[in-house]
Amino acid sequence: MPALAPDQVYQLLRNLTSPVVAITCQRAGTRNGMIADSAIRASIVPAIPRVSVYIHKFNFSHDLIFETGRFVLHLLRDDQFELIHQLGFTSGRARDKLAGVPHRPGTLGVPVLDECYADFECRVANVMDTGSSTCFLGDVVAVGHGAATTPRGAVMTAAHFRANMPSEWRADYEALLRAAQQFAADRSRDIRPVTWKDIGGR
Ligand SMILES: Cc1cc2nc3c(=O)[nH]c(=O)nc-3n(C[C@H](O)[C@H](O)[C@H](O)COP(=O)(O)O)c2cc1C
Repeated sequence: MPALAPDQVYQLLRNLTSPVVAITCQRAGTRNGMIADSAIRASIVPAIPRVSVYIHKFNFSHDLIFETGRFVLHLLRDDQFELIHQLGFTSGRARDKLAGVPHRPGTLGVPVLDECYADFECRVANVMDTGSSTCFLGDVVAVGHGAATTPRGAVMTAAHFRANMPSEWRADYEALLRAAQQFAADRSRDIRPVTWKDIGGR
């Protein structure tokens, strides 16, 4: 059987992409938000809800989450394209991306977005280094639907986003993806063991 080309392998792996989620974080007076499509349910125990998500080390959010051990993961509605553009196409290092995005402080002091399908407030339980990114395992400590009392609409999937984003965003999206792939290619083999700081004290 002929070996698959790397691009074919990548297209197959894309089937494992998660829904598009917004991740918020806060360190002291600095708040931030980003977009990810690498989040999954990480527990089958209803009483111990957990999620995990891979965050590249070049993202500002990475440092905020690593330093505080807290984040909020939001499932989005399938009409929230503008929010994905606001949080996922530029970094919050230079400006406050949440300035125009309605939100309130959650139980962990991290911003919870008013508009979303569901929000999961998380405390980091463990981490795994991949070289280029960190996989954060989060214990879910509170759940809501943003400012709504019930979920509205349908969940934004990665396939729906890719197929329906405004055409004028596509060149930027693909350039950002290529840059992230290059960053990861340069670092993926440099995996370091990490012991999460709070692991013994829980
Ligand atoms: C659809 C989509 C999916 C993304 N998925 C991820 C992801 O899984 N992990 C990640 O680290 N960055 C991901 N990104 C990129 C970050 O959202 C982006 O680099 C963002 O600007 C980071 O912001 P920050 O530097 O303010 O943290 C994704 C972006 C988009 C648009």
